[in-house]
Amino acid sequence: MNERDSEAVASLLRARGYAIVEDEALADVILLNTCSVRDLAEQKAIGKAAHLSKRKRRNPRLLVGILGCMAQNRGADLLDRLPDLDLVVGTQKFHRVPDHLDNLLATIKGEGPRPESILDLDAEAGSQNEIRGHDHTEGAPQISAYISIMQGCNMHCTFCIVPKTRGEERSRPIDDIVREAEDLVAHGTREITLLGQIVTSYGRREFPMVDGKTPFVQLLERLHALPQLHRLRFTSPHPSGFKPDLIAAHRDLSKLGEYAHLPVQSGSDRILRAMNRPYTRDTYLRLIASLRAAQPKLWFSTDIIVGFPGETDEDFAATRDLFREVGFEMAYLFKYSTRTGTPAAELPDQVPTDVAEARHRELMDILEKRSLARHQQMVGTTEEVLAQEPAKRPAGRLMGRTRGYRKVFFDAPDRLLGELVQVRITSATVAALHGEVVTNG
Ligand code: 5AD
Repeated sequence: MNERDSEAVASLLRARGYAIVEDEALADVILLNTCSVRDLAEQKAIGKAAHLSKRKRRNPRLLVGILGCMAQNRGADLLDRLPDLDLVVGTQKFHRVPDHLDNLLATIKGEGPRPESILDLDAEAGSQNEIRGHDHTEGAPQISAYISIMQGCNMHCTFCIVPKTRGEERSRPIDDIVREAEDLVAHGTREITLLGQIVTSYGRREFPMVDGKTPFVQLLERLHALPQLHRLRFTSPHPSGFKPDLIAAHRDLSKLGEYAHLPVQSGSDRILRAMNRPYTRDTYLRLIASLRAAQPKLWFSTDIIVGFPGETDEDFAATRDLFREVGFEMAYLFKYSTRTGTPAAELPDQVPTDVAEARHRELMDILEKRSLARHQQMVGTTEEVLAQEPAKRPAGRLMGRTRGYRKVFFDAPDRLLGELVQVRITSATVAALHGEVVTNG
């Protein structure tokens, strides 16, 4: 999501006559787009901003700004901590960045005193409709592109800062999204990933059900019909959003591939309740079973938090057992990070760091073994791969993804970029597959 927001800001700035430079040392303006989901992300951004502030003292004309979630989360406190910052822009104001920069630069040109810092954090109705510009630069098309379809989340998981940083759920109209997708596809995009903090809630308050289908599934169907699009993905979903229509979509819409991301967070009902996740271990497992029934080849991935306040050995064992039972091929495993202002931050029984570390490592081990075993089983099979980008090295090698979203490296000419290619898998590691193109006839 942050990548997409940054891209959209860059696109607006280009349209305003700014040039994006590759080398930070050459920049007159440096904007940091930030994340607040875990403390580590905030610490990194603060470290980077402090470093840039020092550079500003040597070069007072350098402008430094912080955008996005950390700006929204910390607001004016950020300016107290980093008084040299010129610009602090929240998550509903990305589209205002060009105007703010123009104003700051105009003041600097006048050789007057240092311009006042600008703080722009208010909520803005309709701001979800502003994240849409893509640059169609000449040369390589963007084979895989993101589209932001909604902003915010109303679920209020007790560990999560997102309701504070991104606000209430707001969705873009289906027609606008379809137009953006058509434009991307016309410029060579072959895979679209729909983005939102909770995409499965897309449009549920704004748009009606049609033929028993939720707005999200209506949107998937519209995009699936674009002839030149090969793959359609989305993130992040909520397990509670997998209603029968979305389960059926995994059977009927082949461009969704054979991949489903279902963030479970914990396998313990007690912890799930404390997290305010409205499902149980049992209903989650039944959901996995219905998805498998709809599309037997699905590869599953998940998000898990270990060390949520009050998580006992028994609770963790329940998570570990569920993790093994489902056999996730992919997972984002996190140690709980206390976010000030969330309900969980007030809970007693915070789990000691070393306990959380050990639990995290245990899940990592299971995941690595499982991924390697599944990858090795694929050796000798032929997979449909979307050729996405040149591999970093050697020259002549491409990186692509299987229908199960596994990374594959194979030798092929660049003209196959954006194409679906049949690749025979010849070897496997934990992280990726290697293979060779199967030539027909
Ligand atoms: N601590 C650790 N992980 C978190 N996540 C969200 N909030 C926290 C937190 N406070 C994880 C969840 C979510 C993913 C995007 O980040 O697993 O699904």
